[in-house]
Amino acid sequence: MKFFLDSANLEELKKALDWGVIDGVTTNPSLIAKEGVPVEDQVRRICEIIDGDVSAEVVSTCARDMAAEGRRLARIHRNIVVKVPLGEEGIKAVAALSQDGIRTNVTLCFSAAQALLAAKAGAYIISAFIGRVDDIGWPGMDLIRDIVTIYRNYGYKTQILAASIRGTLDVVDAAKAGAHIGTLPYKVLEQMVKHPLTEKGLAQFMEDHRKAFELVTA
Ligand code: G3P
Repeated sequence: MKFFLDSANLEELKKALDWGVIDGVTTNPSLIAKEGVPVEDQVRRICEIIDGDVSAEVVSTCARDMAAEGRRLARIHRNIVVKVPLGEEGIKAVAALSQDGIRTNVTLCFSAAQALLAAKAGAYIISAFIGRVDDIGWPGMDLIRDIVTIYRNYGYKTQILAASIRGTLDVVDAAKAGAHIGTLPYKVLEQMVKHPLTEKGLAQFMEDHRKAFELVTA
């Protein structure tokens, strides 16, 4: 499973890269807005920090403008993946960009039907949002499972990216379901590594070692 950091913050990315487990980055207009830097400049800086897929989202609303904006974004760096929101205009833009050999990450996916359209349009990645579905009381993970089944049935190469991740279990369940990528907020990375029994066991190891050796030499 590839791990992407779901952030446009450079300091957070540098911290995450120290873990040695981050394969790429996803941004979106809200994450970019938090940094207060135009998307072109911020994703260029991100590409200078990490050698992996970096998703940069278009904000145009019609297919022709989305495609033109996507071509501009793709020219920033070879690692840029152009993020395009679903909808009729988005699917048309993905088809056009795919024809140009430009990789796309189709985002704001909330149904298997949308994911099927994205794969047929030539999407490189489909971003299926788990947390926002859970937030309204529906089983978000079923979306991942349905997409995995459909893509396997027809051999689609589009990579399934589990997005809108709220915690450790979302990552584990998405991995069990067969998602190719999980995009994680930094806080989820920190949650994943912790377990109370690990902390308890380590404290006991340290205490036993101290009693056996440090007291002797004291
Ligand atoms: O960046 C795409 C997605 O992971 C954002 O989801 O629900 O945390 O805004 P959310």
